[in-house]
Amino acid sequence: MRRIFIAGNWKMNTNFQEAKELIDAIYQQTNSHDIDVAVCPPMPYLSSVSNYIKENEHQKSLQIKVGAQNMHWEEKGAYTGEVSGTMLQDVGCTYVVLGHSERRALFSETNNGINKKIHKALALGLLPILCIGETLEEREKGKEKEIIEKQLLEGLTDLLPSQIETCTLAYEPVWAIGTGKTASPEIAQDMHAFIRKTLTEKYGKNVSDSVRIQYGGSVKPQNIQELIAQNDIDGALIGGASLKADSFSKIIEICSLSGK
Ligand code: 13P
Repeated sequence: MRRIFIAGNWKMNTNFQEAKELIDAIYQQTNSHDIDVAVCPPMPYLSSVSNYIKENEHQKSLQIKVGAQNMHWEEKGAYTGEVSGTMLQDVGCTYVVLGHSERRALFSETNNGINKKIHKALALGLLPILCIGETLEEREKGKEKEIIEKQLLEGLTDLLPSQIETCTLAYEPVWAIGTGKTASPEIAQDMHAFIRKTLTEKYGKNVSDSVRIQYGGSVKPQNIQELIAQNDIDGALIGGASLKADSFSKIIEICSLSGK
């Protein structure tokens, strides 16, 4: 059984005051306790958000974990502007989002670099969320599965099956991110099934049965029910709708009641 996992990627948004208000409102608006939930604030607030959650989570049914949006693969050294996995753990992170399409497109991240980051995260005990997704151009050329397979297998290169089981994958078609155009449940399920089949062929059924695959791209309360009902969709990685307590809480509640 794969437990549903909903994560909010705040990207470069919020300040600490807004973050506290968001967390408070999420606690007020949710009763869930049977799904995994994480928020991924900008780097400067990881420590304070994580402490704020620790101070306020007592007697709350919802457990919120904290994730970072990126990390470096080295432990320490002359890497101006970078942050290591050890530092992320030190400030209370459980998860780290790796290979987001914005980092691939805007900061030239490669499958090879992302793979190094995953190795390091896992060695430290941080749980990676590996993002993969094709562009509109790639889909229009019919290359979407080829691209996804490459991002997946190169991202997971040289990992042990037992390590892969602890990773979360996030299928985020680039054309659906921040555009309001969600992939239809059928398109998303088709790609999630392909990802799971690829995992089965390469790593066996135990791995593919265990790995959670989130969908990401314009997820909102209005479309989550149909998405989460799909066999191979185990949760969501949410951008815009995770910045509003009403919509993020509603998504959590709908998933929690989905009977999955
Ligand atoms: P939106 O939900 O704003 O489309 O963003 C998705 C995303 O990129 C999450 O990582």
